[in-house]
Amino acid sequence: MGFGLIDFKTLGDERGSLIAIEEGYNAPFDIKRVYYIFDTKQGVERGFHAHINLKQIAIAVKGSCTFVLDNGKTRKEIKLINPNQGLFIEGLIWREMKDFSADCVLVVLASEHYDESDYIRDYDKFIEEVNR
Ligand code: TYD
Repeated sequence: MGFGLIDFKTLGDERGSLIAIEEGYNAPFDIKRVYYIFDTKQGVERGFHAHINLKQIAIAVKGSCTFVLDNGKTRKEIKLINPNQGLFIEGLIWREMKDFSADCVLVVLASEHYDESDYIRDYDKFIEEVNR
């Protein structure tokens, strides 16, 4: 379990920039689902859950937001401000998202289809699961 930043290579020319993400190359899992969070209202905090199996890469393709990542022992904040960086998260990590800029578009690539049974939405249960 863990998390870390992936640097994506920016391709581009005088017309502008382009980033490609392909499973097996710069995404370390098969991508089954893509979703994006946008128009987040000021002061909103989201997330507040962990996943049992899901792997994800979150990219602020526009604007910025901050992830709070908690492995049950320590908490770390990572600010996403650049479309060429992806935050990879796998295993039992409690995540919260905050400080969304008004223009933030947060794209998330996921290794599995949406499955509510993969979520742990209770922090105490998360700690129990980490210590199991
Ligand atoms: P939620 O889990 O509350 O989002 P966040 O963790 O970012 O705060 O999801 C909001 C709603 O969207 C909830 O009703 C579940 C639904 N949803 C899907 O149907 N499919 C998905 O892929 C995701 C991520 C959420």
